[in-house]
Amino acid sequence: MQHHYARPRRLVTDDVRAAVLEDFPEIAWIPDAGLRAKAVEAWGYALCCSDFNRITDIPPEGNPGAPVLRRGTQADHVRGVVRYTKAIAEEFAQSYPECVIDWDVLYAGAVCHDVGKPFEFDRANRQRWEADPADSGMPTFRHSVFGMHVCLTVGLPDEVAHIAVGHSFEGLHMGVSTECTIVRQADHGWWHLAGALGLVTPETVGVLSANLRARSA
Ligand SMILES: [Fe+2]
Repeated sequence: MQHHYARPRRLVTDDVRAAVLEDFPEIAWIPDAGLRAKAVEAWGYALCCSDFNRITDIPPEGNPGAPVLRRGTQADHVRGVVRYTKAIAEEFAQSYPECVIDWDVLYAGAVCHDVGKPFEFDRANRQRWEADPADSGMPTFRHSVFGMHVCLTVGLPDEVAHIAVGHSFEGLHMGVSTECTIVRQADHGWWHLAGALGLVTPETVGVLSANLRARSA
């Protein structure tokens, strides 16, 4: 069996970092400057572990193949989840000021929740996995797991990496933090509402929920 190593295929340059910020301006909402820089680094590192040059090059899908947005790119989803996370957290913080929220972890986690997608969506990876899943697994790592790896590799704290791995199905097999719960709600809610509002292709909307009745677009 041939062995493979998930490592950058090219250098993470300032051009890569600039493109990340251009495609994902909500990264600026992370209050702590150090975490903000590491979130940019995480996306740059993840892109360079794939053949995608920018977040806007990644298809607008929750998982490869389903659910699929009718239009847009992955940037529309991840930006929407950060904005939705903000709306949810601010609602509770304003209505119940006694709520304790770590806003650094919350925003960094929302920004990085899908940082593993360049790896899971990469065409070369998918072709290799599909060719021999008995050797590689299919996928070798889901985006949530690879996202955790990326977060830890660039020096983000465990609490942010926890949100990357816990935001998706993996979160059903672990206790999830308060901030992870908020990002999970924002992420899953975003997809369900996109489905209900007719923004997801009819062929793939069924994966979201058995009781969802999508408005025709
Ligand atoms: Fe997501």
